[in-house]
Amino acid sequence: MAKAINIPFIYEEYNRPEDLNPDDRELILTARDAALKAYAPYSGFLVGAAVRLNSGKIVVGTNVENAAFPSGICAERNALSNASANHPDDIPVALAIAAATADGMDAGPVSPCGNCRQVIAEEEYRSGKNIRILLSGKDKIQIIEKGGELLPLQFNRNNLKLNPR
Ligand code: THU
Repeated sequence: MAKAINIPFIYEEYNRPEDLNPDDRELILTARDAALKAYAPYSGFLVGAAVRLNSGKIVVGTNVENAAFPSGICAERNALSNASANHPDDIPVALAIAAATADGMDAGPVSPCGNCRQVIAEEEYRSGKNIRILLSGKDKIQIIEKGGELLPLQFNRNNLKLNPR
C-alpha cells in the first residue's frame, strides 16, 4: 500500500523592494547592482548574488561564463565560495539573487539552479542555520525562509555517514 507524503512549501511574495525590511532591501539592491558586473557574453543573462553574513557584512558574486561552457560558474556559488574563502567563520544567513538581460532590464525572479541549491543546502548543514533566499524580479520578490526547502529529499552528509571536519 503506497503512502503519499506531502512536503509543504510556503514562500512570501512582495511587489517592491520598498516593502521589505531595510536589511533585505539592501541585499536585493546589492544583488541587482552585482548583476550589472556579470561576465556573461555567451548567454547574455547577467546574474548577481549577494550573501548576508551573520556579522552583517555582504559578499557578492556574479555569474562568470567561459568559452568552455561548463567551466562557467553561477552567481550564487560564486558569492557563497567567496564568503567561505574570505569569511570562513562568518555564517551566511541570507542570499539575494537578481538577474538582468543584456539590455539592462531586470528579468523575472530567478530561482537558483539545482547545482546551486545543493551548495546552499551544504552551507546550511555546515552552520546549522537557515539561509533566507530572496529572489528579485522586476515587479516581484519571492522570499523562501530556508534554502534547503528548494531541494526536498536532498543528498547530504547524512547519506555519506561520514563526520565532516
Ligand atoms: N545562472 C546563474 O548565475 N544563476 C542562476 O540561478 C541561474 C543561471 C547563470 C548561468 C549562466 O551563466 C547563465 O545564468 C545562463 O544560464
